[in-house]
Amino acid sequence: MKKIILDVDPGHDDAVAIMLAAFNPEIDLLGITVVAGNQTLEKTFNNALKVCSHLGIDVPVYKGMPGPMVREQVIADDIHGETGLDGPDFGEITKKGETMHAVDYIIEKLLGSDEKITLVPTGPLSNIGMALRKEPRIKEKIEQIVLMGGAYQLGNSTPAAEFNIFADPEAAYVVFSSGLPVVMMGLDLTRQALATKEVVDKIGSLNNKASKLFVDLMEFFAKTQHDVFGWSAPPVHDPTTVAYLIDPSCIETKPMYCKIELKSEDSYGRTLCDYFGILKKEPNVDVAVKLDFDKFWNIVYETLKLYK
Ligand code: BDR
Ligand code: CA
Repeated sequence: MKKIILDVDPGHDDAVAIMLAAFNPEIDLLGITVVAGNQTLEKTFNNALKVCSHLGIDVPVYKGMPGPMVREQVIADDIHGETGLDGPDFGEITKKGETMHAVDYIIEKLLGSDEKITLVPTGPLSNIGMALRKEPRIKEKIEQIVLMGGAYQLGNSTPAAEFNIFADPEAAYVVFSSGLPVVMMGLDLTRQALATKEVVDKIGSLNNKASKLFVDLMEFFAKTQHDVFGWSAPPVHDPTTVAYLIDPSCIETKPMYCKIELKSEDSYGRTLCDYFGILKKEPNVDVAVKLDFDKFWNIVYETLKLYK
């Protein structure tokens, strides 16, 4: 069982990552930390509580950074709507969040743990970057950081940059230059994780509360991904991180030297990845390049099947 802290900004695909982490027996989900990203912190925090309440996920939820370290805040309401999780009806929210700050929780949990813990960020890296800056000793307790963010090819916030990195490039710089093992699920990979009609129908046929939530989330997400980017089926980015931890054979990675661009106006927040090793620098990131589509969606299907 892999011990993880999931750091999210829900977000439709974050919600799917929460489900995978909460219900798959390979994963020991210690805590959920929330960051501003797809929407403001109040909304993303509320959304994490909504998902947990709706599905009875009994894991502590911590509120973290209300915005990026340096830049002005950007959100993705064009994709995730006014609430950050538009579409499904979640009913009454009974779950309460914790009072401790997410950054302090990450530090305390890591320092107090006998075993190393994997961090799984699926939003901007503000919480993780702050924790690393506030208490560098946590590095010794981090097994690896498996994150969704970046692209070695094309961006989605700008032609050069992916949203999670663009939303807090300075925090991403801290993470990518930390010397820790980093696995990057960039857009190059997650654009292969399309929730096609066949995929949604098959998961929908499970007909339980989790699968119904998945279908409702995908209905809204498919529409905005189509309207904004022209996708005929939406790329479900965030759960690729958790799927990789459940079964690494569903994703092929390639070691690359990768740097966060901070100085360029046009390429601010780009993950500059040396795919061909042109710079002759030591690789610092395992960058995801290829998804086994059937294996990935089967992990989601089999995990949501376990929902009771
Ligand atoms: C990332 O940005 C967010 O909108 C998604 O939740 C995902 O984490 C994709 O660029
Ligand atoms: Ca996200």
